[in-house]
Amino acid sequence: MKTAAQIVVLDAGGQYCHLIARKVRDLGVYSEVRASETPAADLAGARGLIISGGPNSVYDPASPTVDPAIFHPRDDGARVLGICYGQQLMAHLLGGTVQLGVKGEYGLATLDLDGCSSVLFDGISGPQQIWMSHRDLVSAVPPGFSVLGSTATCSIAAIEAPARGLYGVQFHPEVVHTSRGREILSNFLFGICDCRRDWDPLHRVPQIEDEIRQCVGDRNVFFFVSGGVDSTVACALCQRALGAERVQGVYVDTGLMREGETDSMRRIPGLSVESAEDRFLGALAGVRDPERKRHIIGEEFVRVQERIIESRHLLDGHWILGQGTIYPDTIESGGTEKAAVIKTHHNRVPGIQRLIDAGRVVEPLRAYYKDEVREIGRELGLPAEILDRHPFPGPGLAIRCLCSQIEAGVQATAEGYILPVHSVGVQGDSRSYAPVLCIDALDALDHARATELINRISGVNRVVARVRTAAPLADLRVRVSDLTPERLVRLRHADAIVRRLSHSSGFDRRIWQFPVVLIPLGTGAAPDSVVLRPIDSVDGMTAQSVAMPHDLLDSISTELLSIPGVSGVFYDLTHKPPATIEWE
Ligand code: XMP
Repeated sequence: MKTAAQIVVLDAGGQYCHLIARKVRDLGVYSEVRASETPAADLAGARGLIISGGPNSVYDPASPTVDPAIFHPRDDGARVLGICYGQQLMAHLLGGTVQLGVKGEYGLATLDLDGCSSVLFDGISGPQQIWMSHRDLVSAVPPGFSVLGSTATCSIAAIEAPARGLYGVQFHPEVVHTSRGREILSNFLFGICDCRRDWDPLHRVPQIEDEIRQCVGDRNVFFFVSGGVDSTVACALCQRALGAERVQGVYVDTGLMREGETDSMRRIPGLSVESAEDRFLGALAGVRDPERKRHIIGEEFVRVQERIIESRHLLDGHWILGQGTIYPDTIESGGTEKAAVIKTHHNRVPGIQRLIDAGRVVEPLRAYYKDEVREIGRELGLPAEILDRHPFPGPGLAIRCLCSQIEAGVQATAEGYILPVHSVGVQGDSRSYAPVLCIDALDALDHARATELINRISGVNRVVARVRTAAPLADLRVRVSDLTPERLVRLRHADAIVRRLSHSSGFDRRIWQFPVVLIPLGTGAAPDSVVLRPIDSVDGMTAQSVAMPHDLLDSISTELLSIPGVSGVFYDLTHKPPATIEWE
């Protein structure tokens, strides 16, 4: 496995940190993510360093920083590109001024590059569509730097000190909404850092198989498979490398799966199904806080795994554990603090870490990102219906079934109704829970209006449109509610209806993921509502809410309203950011 990365992304806590590394790899250069504070000496050998964005202000006492020695490259030392917070940090540490922002700027902007001749923008001229997500901004460049571009609200949107190999951009070249972002990154890699191409996400199967055989030796491998892409591809790679008879798979039914999921897993040869619904649902009884739900599910997974390992004597020296861990899972300071917590539960809990340290775990995909895993799966000839599956979160329906501590009515405002349920948002890289604004204007699924409303109104991070309700919006209430088997059945039923109709209409092929969320908003007789959240995305880091054809929405909402206990259907119009894909 290659470890010497030509480009190291220094993680300043930004949710797009992994995306930067992924985009660099797409350009054919191996890239790794390290903690921002990594000493310059440990980065020797890298040709370029990219400081990621992050949620902090450089003035926060605990804000991430970098070793200032990285800004003094020797002739053969690494060039540095600061992105967003990375640019602010570079300016701050080198004597420029960073101005504290109040509300910030999130979304599309136009970059004016008039007169710029920097290698960073080689081949790019005229007004450029870029994507911004920041609060603070640089108001004076450090001595020796020049300004390369500006927008209407940000006069210092790109800077450079080429003789010192230092560059910065306030916008995000790594997201697809920055139209020429790929070329800007390519200019940095090849025009400035002089990288050579050393990474090809395709044609890697023989190398991975060798690595598996080397790691496993004469032992056998057992996998906990989830039905998702990563564990399926990892398991298939092991079967190819070692022979199917040396690989055993176990699927744990948590009781939080979608309709039909466990039955379809039962049909896969070489896979056994472990029923653990009672354990998971018992441990979750009465738990309403989203993070506690995740934590409990993670812990329960470990307990079930340990029990299986013990009862089947799987670690008697002849067996080792296989995991579908992918690259973002292995990073200690993950994309967001929450992501780090989530991933820790799944593949880096202490028990598993001990096995890793003892050489008893094989993780064939640990150097790869999701899209690369899909490519590898295609190379293996795995069926498209597995590889093209929409992602489904590990904690399953639990994080799509919102609970409430309080009872409260909706609140009428000039713009619509505030629904007293809390959902996650991500503005300027930090995640926060806030209420939802509901507009009563479905005729046009108006995404532009939703974006405008969230930017303007403080205190909400998501906008939904009312599709259909059994009672007037003003009469709906949120009630105290838990993650009960009854509500999970309701959600599972709703999810199955949406999946069936969006599949038969072909709509599911136009989108990347389609969470269906149950919220405790309704009438006394029918206490819940269903939120439809179809989104398009490349990698889940950013996402666009997608409008669906009216006839499909009509048939979906009619069927949903016929589910006992459901009194409303809503449509989430919010892009990511400002709202996350999931509601919790
Ligand atoms: P968010 O909600 O953060 O989701 O925009 C981005 C992607 O991550 C998935 N997701 C999870 N996956 N465990 C997982 O395995 C989790 O706790 C979790 N939370 C979100 C989400 O479905 C989307 O694809």
